[in-house]
Amino acid sequence: MITRSLGATGPRVSALGLGCMGMSDLYGPADEQESIATIHAALDAGITLLDTGDYYGMGRNELLLREALRGRARDRVVISVKFGAMRDPDGAWIGMDGRPAAVKNFLAYTLRRLRTDYVDIYRPGRLDPTVPIEETVGAIAEMIGAGYIRHVGLSEVGADTLRKARAVHAIADLQTEYSLISRGIETKILPTARDLGVGVTAYGVLSRGLLSGHWSKERALPKGDVRNVLPRFSGKNVARNLTLVDAMRAMADEKGATVAQLAIAWVLARGEDIIPLIGARRRDRLSEALGALDLVLIAEDVARLETTVPADAALGTRYDAHQMRVLDSERESPAAS
Ligand SMILES: NC(=O)c1ccc[n+]([C@@H]2O[C@H](COP(=O)([O-])OP(=O)(O)OC[C@H]3O[C@@H](n4cnc5c(N)ncnc54)[C@H](OP(=O)(O)O)[C@@H]3O)[C@@H](O)[C@H]2O)c1
Repeated sequence: MITRSLGATGPRVSALGLGCMGMSDLYGPADEQESIATIHAALDAGITLLDTGDYYGMGRNELLLREALRGRARDRVVISVKFGAMRDPDGAWIGMDGRPAAVKNFLAYTLRRLRTDYVDIYRPGRLDPTVPIEETVGAIAEMIGAGYIRHVGLSEVGADTLRKARAVHAIADLQTEYSLISRGIETKILPTARDLGVGVTAYGVLSRGLLSGHWSKERALPKGDVRNVLPRFSGKNVARNLTLVDAMRAMADEKGATVAQLAIAWVLARGEDIIPLIGARRRDRLSEALGALDLVLIAEDVARLETTVPADAALGTRYDAHQMRVLDSERESPAAS
């Protein structure tokens, strides 16, 4: 397995990470035994970075991870945990809590659920607009001092927040959406992360399945699947966006690769400091994603792909209108997609 460093101060991890969210939440029903088998297959293939959030399935995703990691050496895996998003008993999203006391409280529950002594990378899933980021990061730093956390991470923040946070403590990585059709970070956020020695863990590399080559506009989404409200999956947008996938397929075919592999390989090619998080929840999907590591794109391929799928080619924003208004990462780059 190829490895990459997570920023200037973070751990060295596999060049692809496994994101576990869809195994417990947001993408419709998932098979728990297959999810565990997928995590095992990922570890066996050399993936060392596992990403979760305490709010994914309201604790269920962490419990799944704990089950999957039973009997495995704790120090062979880097566990990245997001916290801070609050939900009601129906699962509705009801805000963020980044207060220092909340940080410690969330962490205590996470450590119990994961049955571990420490979290490798701990990050607020979103900025809490009512709490200065310095205070949230300060509390994480305090927990690093106490031995419960190894590294600080951030998620979906803009360049200014990144700088403020970095002034308090070293930041291993920024987790943010980045794909051929979500390139907003390239203007300001990515250069700032690079300037500060902060790595990037990229999610939505397949745009939540849209760029996977397995999506069709006929696909019915179950209730509770977040893609029901994502503009890129709606009505005529999805039809237009799938024409981009057709164009990618022609290039993938030429290279003896799949569309998903091409999409992942493009992100891998965008910099040694970027680690794509793969949302596979089945072994066949994982195995396809791992194949992207064998697809090396030279500069000419990257340029051709970016002409085939221009930065602003997708119809629809990456989140709904409300999210686009409140995301810290979007506030600074209103034109970002
Ligand atoms: N920080 C944040 O705000 C944030 C937000 C979202 C996600 N994340 C993290 O990023 C991780 C990745 O999630 P994502 O939604 O960004 O993932 P993604 O890789 O863009 O999309 C995952 C979807 O693609 C489909 N897919 C089809 N072929 C695939 C293949 N070969 N490999 C993988 N997936 C394939 C999966 O399909 P089927 O399962 O239907 O087959 C799944 O529905 C999450 O698990 C989570 O840890 C972070």
